[in-house]
This record gives sequence, structure tokens and C-alpha cells, in this order.
Amino acid sequence: MAGRGNFSSKLGFIAAAAGSAVGLGNIWGFPYEVGSGGGAIFVLIYLFFCFTLCLPVMMTEIAIGRKTAKNAVGAFEKLGYKNWRFIGMLGLLSGVLILSFYNVIAGWAFGYVIEMAKSNFAVADSFSTFTSDVFTVGLYGFVFMGITAFVVSKGVSGGIEKAAKFLMPTLIIMIIGIAVYSFTLPNAIDGLKFYLIPDFSKVTGQVIFNALGQAFFSLSLGMGAFITYGSYVGKNDNLVSSATLITLADVGIAFLAGLLIFPLIGFMSEGSMLNVGRGPALIFVTLPQIFGHIGGGLGSLFGTAFFTLLCFAALTSTVSLLEVPVAYLVDERKMNRKKASWLVAGTIFVIGIPSLLSAGYSQFFTNFITYVGAESATDFLSFIANVANDSFLPLGGILITVFASHVWKRENLHEELALGNPNYHQSWLKKYLNFVMPIIVPMVLGIVFILTILVNFFGF
Ligand code: TRP
Repeated sequence: MAGRGNFSSKLGFIAAAAGSAVGLGNIWGFPYEVGSGGGAIFVLIYLFFCFTLCLPVMMTEIAIGRKTAKNAVGAFEKLGYKNWRFIGMLGLLSGVLILSFYNVIAGWAFGYVIEMAKSNFAVADSFSTFTSDVFTVGLYGFVFMGITAFVVSKGVSGGIEKAAKFLMPTLIIMIIGIAVYSFTLPNAIDGLKFYLIPDFSKVTGQVIFNALGQAFFSLSLGMGAFITYGSYVGKNDNLVSSATLITLADVGIAFLAGLLIFPLIGFMSEGSMLNVGRGPALIFVTLPQIFGHIGGGLGSLFGTAFFTLLCFAALTSTVSLLEVPVAYLVDERKMNRKKASWLVAGTIFVIGIPSLLSAGYSQFFTNFITYVGAESATDFLSFIANVANDSFLPLGGILITVFASHVWKRENLHEELALGNPNYHQSWLKKYLNFVMPIIVPMVLGIVFILTILVNFFGF
């Protein structure tokens, strides 16, 4: 294990892992899913999934990682199940695909920091003009990927942990600051009502699948990111409390992001809540208009702060996405960490170019594919997001839980979770895991996986 690196403390691990979880998925994805998924009811279902289904998956991933001190692929071999390495390979592929488009969005956020600092609120009026300027936004993405590679190249405690320990608290303080301001605006209360008072008539299959998909993506599950981070955790750390804290932090920040955004939308829509946009629109179009409305120096200050915060959140996530393939190359291919970091980052940047071109610049990639029964075409970036987030991650989650309960066996999982956690064997958690892990978790994930594919791609 020498030279592989470790987190220097339990807090360091929690900061890095929470940093991985908290990202664009929380601040950009969660509010728009809530907006399009019926408001508070989506929030409730999402919370339910996070704690009942996702938390066990997270504990399992971390336990496999710590037990083996290996990357997402090597971990399966180290446990003695060479044939199950394909789960890790699928995870690597998911990570590469996710980072390729995620970095494009992070590049937009980075560009917005600059536009907000220049008080150019009008950028939001023609978002596609902004994203079509591929040389400029491509450069932003290039810089973002470069920063990510730099952090990963510095290793676990030097780069990843240090960055996260500084970025996470800053992020929380900034979100709370803007949220408090947003409460003071007229009609803020209408936004809060939409966000917090559930309307049970809005529950549909789609809302339920989206909530689970969002929970998986937001918690960074299903591709071995937590196997990888778990591999740097000390044997005396309590994995159960760490995983719980990471989940609470992730859910907490998504929730705070909603508290920040929905009052602003209440204000913008004069209480009607009717312009709750979907997708990129919410963060990149609606929000800047609010900063423009505040106007002048203050609007620019809020806008710059917000998008800086979004970049921070994205950075600790891109770092974890890059770390998965890098750890694989370092462990399995004996590559030097620095070389691996820059090589993989460069490759993924290139793989991301079609995504970069798919937001207006190239008609081919912008109208890339029309799913069966869909009214309009899906762009390349969204297509990759659908494949990786909605299909590969849940599949990875199913495979990991099936592997842990039926191949590696639950006793081994329990033993690992009991390290640093003396009361584990008497805990209700152990009973709960015995109850849900063998059949319920893989089955629920499996149903959602199949239905999501049928609905998303084949228009059922
Ligand atoms: N969870 C991050 C977000 O919400 C994205 C992310 C980082 C991720 N690492 C991951 C998603 C690993 C899935 C798997 O923005």
C-alpha cells in the first residue's frame, strides 16, 4: 500500500467524499428536477430514496474500497473475484462519459463567473449564443479540466483533501448568504410554498424514476467513485457514520440550493411560479436575470459569488470523476500519478468535444438523436447524460449490491462495516442491511433501470 496515499483524517475523507457528491447535480440539477417534477413531492421522494436505498449502496462501495485498498477495477480482483472486474470497467466507462459532458457544463459556469463580474447580465437572454461560441466556452472547459488534472495529480491528501477542506465550507457559507437574501424579496413565499408543501396529486412514474436517478447521480454512486475514495480511508474510521454524514451533507446542500433558488423564482414570476424552467435554463437563464434585476454592483457581486460557488462545487466533483480512472492506471498499470492525471484529463477533454459542439454550434450534434416517440431531437450532451447517468449508474448500483450480497457475501460486508464501529453487530442498521441488500435494493434499482430505459429511449 506504500505510496498509494491516504486521507490524513476522517474529516479529510468526509470533506473529499462530500465534495465529490456535492456538485452541479445539487445546485444545477436538483432545482430543475424539483421544478419539473412537481415541487415538494419530488423532494420527499428523493429524500426517501437517498436514505433507504442509496445509503446502503454507498456504505457497500466504501467498504469494498477500504477492504481492498484498490481502485474500482482492482478491488474486485483483490477480493478474489477476477471475473467481476467488469463492474469496475463499467464504472470507469461511466466516469469517463460523465466527466466528458460534466466538464462542458462546468466550463459554462466558469464563463458565467467572468460575465457576472463584467455585469453582463444580458448573457442570459441568449444562452445558446453563449454556448455556441465554442472557442470561448471550449477554452473555459479546457482551463477547468486543467485545474481538475492539477488537483488530482497532487494526490489524495495533498490535492484532493486540501482543496475539498477549503472549498466545501466556503460553498455552504455562500449558499446560505444568498438564500437569506432571497427570502427578503417580494413573493419569495410563493417559491417556498412550491418547494416545501407537497402536492400528492403530482406523483407519477416519471417523477419517481427521476428522483432515484437524481439521488444516484447526486450521491456519486454506481461507478466506483466511493470504492476509489474508500480505498484511501483508515481502518479505524467508522464507515457508517462517515457515509451518513456524506449523505446528509449532499442532501443538505441540495436542499439549501432549493431554498436559494425557489424564492428567487417566486420573485421573478411575481408569485405565479410559471417560469420554472427546465434543464440548463434554470441556473443559466433565470438566475442571471435576477442578478440583473438587482442590478449594478450588488447584482454583479451576487452573480459572481453564485457562479464561483457553482464552480467550486463542480471542481470537487470533477476531481472525483477523474480520480477513478487515474487510480486505476496508478494501481493496475503502474503509471505515475502525474502522468496519468494529465493523460486521462486530456483524453476526456477530447471525448467531450462533441458535447461542447452540441449546444448550438453544430446542427449535427445539437439534433443528434430522436428517441422513439419523442417530439424533438436530443442533443449529444443530453444523450450521453441519459446513457451514463440514467442507465449505467443504476446498472452499476445493481451489480455492486448483487456482488456484495451474493458473491462477496454479506458477512464480509458486515465485518468491514464493524471496523471502527464496535456497536455495529448490535445495530438496527445491520438488521436493515440484511433485510434490504439481498433482494430489495437490486430489485428496486432493476425495475427503475428497465422502466427508465423504456420510457427515456423508447417512448413507452
Ligand atoms: N455527484 C456529483 C454531482 O452531484 C457528480 C459526480 C461526481 C458523480 N462524481 C460522480 C456522479 C461519480 C456519479 C458518479 O454533481
